[in-house]
Order: sequence, then C-alpha cells, then structure tokens
Amino acid sequence: GNDPKPPVECVLVTGGAGYVGSHTVVKLLEGGYDVVVVDNMSNCTQNEKTSQPESLLRAQALTGRRLTFYGVDINDEAALDAVFKKASFTTHSVDCVLHFAALKSVSESCQIPMTYYRNNVAGTLALVKVMTDNNVKRAVYSSSSTVYGTPQCLPLDEGHPTGQGCTNPYGKSKFMVEEMFKDLCSADKCWRVISLRYFNPVGAHESGRLGEDPLDTPNNLMPYVAQVAVGRRPKLRVYGDDYPTSDGTGVRDYIHIDDLAEGHLRALERMFSAGLDGFRPYNLGTGKGHSVLEVVQAFSEACGKKIPYEIAPRREGDIAASYCDASLAKRDLGWAAKKDLKEMCKFL
Ligand code: NAD
Ligand code: WQD
Repeated sequence: GNDPKPPVECVLVTGGAGYVGSHTVVKLLEGGYDVVVVDNMSNCTQNEKTSQPESLLRAQALTGRRLTFYGVDINDEAALDAVFKKASFTTHSVDCVLHFAALKSVSESCQIPMTYYRNNVAGTLALVKVMTDNNVKRAVYSSSSTVYGTPQCLPLDEGHPTGQGCTNPYGKSKFMVEEMFKDLCSADKCWRVISLRYFNPVGAHESGRLGEDPLDTPNNLMPYVAQVAVGRRPKLRVYGDDYPTSDGTGVRDYIHIDDLAEGHLRALERMFSAGLDGFRPYNLGTGKGHSVLEVVQAFSEACGKKIPYEIAPRREGDIAASYCDASLAKRDLGWAAKKDLKEMCKFL
C-alpha cells in the first residue's frame, strides 16, 4: 500500500554539504523527504566536473535519490529568497529549515572574530528574515555543548546556565544565535525552533563514502588521531594530563555522526506534532564521557596500530570534562544514541 507521507515534506538544509549536514541529508533522502541544500562551499570539496559538492553527489549516489543544490551564501538575502520561491514553485513550499551553515573553528574564530560573527550570527539573521518573508517559521538549529561554557556541574542538562564562560567567538556566536531564536519564539508564537546541542560528533558513514577529512591540520581529536593512524602525522599531542579526571586527560562526550544525524530526523518529526512550541533545546550526546587516552586506546584497537603520542601542555580555553544528561531528548524526541566508542573509531 501507500506509505503515509511524513508530516514534513520539504526540508531546506543550510550547510548541507558539510560533515553533519551531509550525513543528515542521506537520512532525509532515505526517509523520503524533498531536500533542498544551500551551501556556499566555504568548507567542502567541490566536484570539478559538476561543480557540486562531492559530499552531495555521494549522498545522492548512496541513496539513489536526487536533491536540489544551490551554491548560495545565507548572507545573500536576495539569492536565498529566490531559493525559497523556486522551491515552492518546483516542489511545494519549504516546511522546515535545518540550519547547519556556520564556520566552526575555535582557533580561527579568535583570529578573525568578525568573520565568525558575520557568518554565524548575521547569516542567521538573514536566514530568519527570508524565512519570515516566506512564512516558514520552523527551524532546527545546530547548536553546541559549547553554549554551556565551563560546566558548573556534570552531567550537563538543558537547564544548566548558558553563555557563561564561553571564551571564544565561535562559542559566543553559537550562544548568541540561541538567544536570538529564544527572543524570536517568545515574540511570535508561530515560530518553533529546536536547538540541538551537539556534544562531540565523530566517525564516518558506514559506506566509507562520507566523513570528516580536514585538509588543514585537524583541530579536533578524532580526525587528528585518524591521520596519525594512517601515517600522515607522526604523533598526537595530548593537551594536558593534569586535569581532575580519571587519568588526567580531558573527558568528552563523543557521539557517532550516524546517531547525531538520526537525532535531526526525530526533531523534524517532533516539530509538527502537538504540544511543541517555542524554543526547545536538546542535548545530543551519549551521556558518557571518555578521556583522550581512552580514545587513543580504542582507536588503536580498532585499526590494529599503535598511535604514538606525547603529553603536551594544556590547550588554552579547554575544559576538564564535558558530558551530557541525554534523557530529555529520549523523553521528548524518542531519540537515544546507539553507537559506542568502538564503533566511532571504525573508519573504513
Ligand atoms: P562543516 O564545516 O563541515 O559544515 C558547515 C557547512 O556550512 C559547510 O559545508 C560550509 O561550506 C557551509 N557554510 C558555512 N558558512 C556558510 C554560509 N554563510 N552560507 C552557506 N553555507 C555556509 O561543519 P559541521 O561539523 O558539519 O558543522 C555543522 C554545524 O554544526 C555548525 O553549525 C557547527 O557550528 C555545528 N556544530 C558542529 C560540531 C562539530 O564538532 N562538528 C559540534 C557542535 C556544533
Ligand atoms: C577533545 C579532547 C582536547 C586535539 C571542540 C569545540 C566545540 C565543539 C566540538 C563545535 C580535548 C584533546 C584534542 C589534539 C588533544 N565544536 N585533544 N590533542 O575541544 O571538546 O570541542 O569541538 O561546536 O565547540 O570546542 O573537541 O576534539 O578539539 O578535543 O589532546 O590534538 O581532545 O584537549 O580534551 P573539544 P576536540
């Protein structure tokens, strides 16, 4: 018989060519949604022949479905408006926006803060303007555990204060956008925003065709370890072994990209159901913390190679430990992470 149509049919995905976006796009296509991606390709590989992002070509090849891509910057209101108008002309109007587009390097944000505020904060203002003009008032926002700043208690739940101790422009930009969405939702009751506070996303698609492979020196632990494993870098520097944690190294709540992507589908389903209104933040993490050395050990076991490392000084701005209470997402969205550290270390 006919499958029931999902309540959300057409999803516009900003930053859909990126790491988290492209994995989510695969799930959206698999779920039967119409997908429109807007990405300025500032942080993705462009396929020379088609001039589309490589990740999106692969997402379509993996699923056997098509999406619509626009190489547009979210700060370009006129171009973005045209995308919304075209979408409503060719398919039907956009039901909801998944908003991934942002710059995300903590260190770079300290060098060029205005570029980060323009892209992440002003970019979101432009997006909201165009959405409002087109009467689209549903958004799922890619937020971050960074909005909690320095944890006052662990595990972090959604009631933990935000914005205090956000030490870098990137983190502040993620916090500012949450505040904007909160104010928007209280001013206009038609708006619904689900803010997904990701903990530390890692891992790759099971096909081996999608993942995170930064061209520059990786800032984040997992891609760095992966590059050491394949011999592209000689050794890992472990930033500090004198934190008040089990083995002295930093503890984080790593979450598999596949689980994270799944969380966005649950959020979309919840978006149009009854009893959800205003601004809703949800942690997306496993609720379990792992130290740097635990990650090194797990990775080493997964690839059967030793990962050489040395203890280095603490990295400025780092916190000792961060992990979440993931029960709200379970209760409200019916979502829980399934994959453990071992699976996160499997890079095909
Ligand atoms: P990513 O860099 O892989 O993806 C972001 C995408 O957005 C890229 O394809 C980039 O080209 C695009 N983009 C950037 N600025 C744009 C603009 N002005 N207009 C149009 N497109 C633009 O990053 P990611 O890891 O996939 O992160 C996605 C979102 O998740 C970001 O909002 C990030 O802040 C958030 N987040 C990421 C992590 C993480 O560790 N990866 C953790 C927490 C939150
Ligand atoms: C993890 C642990 C490091 C690299 C960052 C952003 C955060 C969020 C996710 C988006 C820490 C240690 C790392 C290395 C190391 N992004 N480490 N050697 O700092 O928890 O979070 O990415 O919102 O906002 O700040 O992630 O992967 O950089 O570090 O020892 O070469 O690994 O000190 O304890 P982090 P990370």
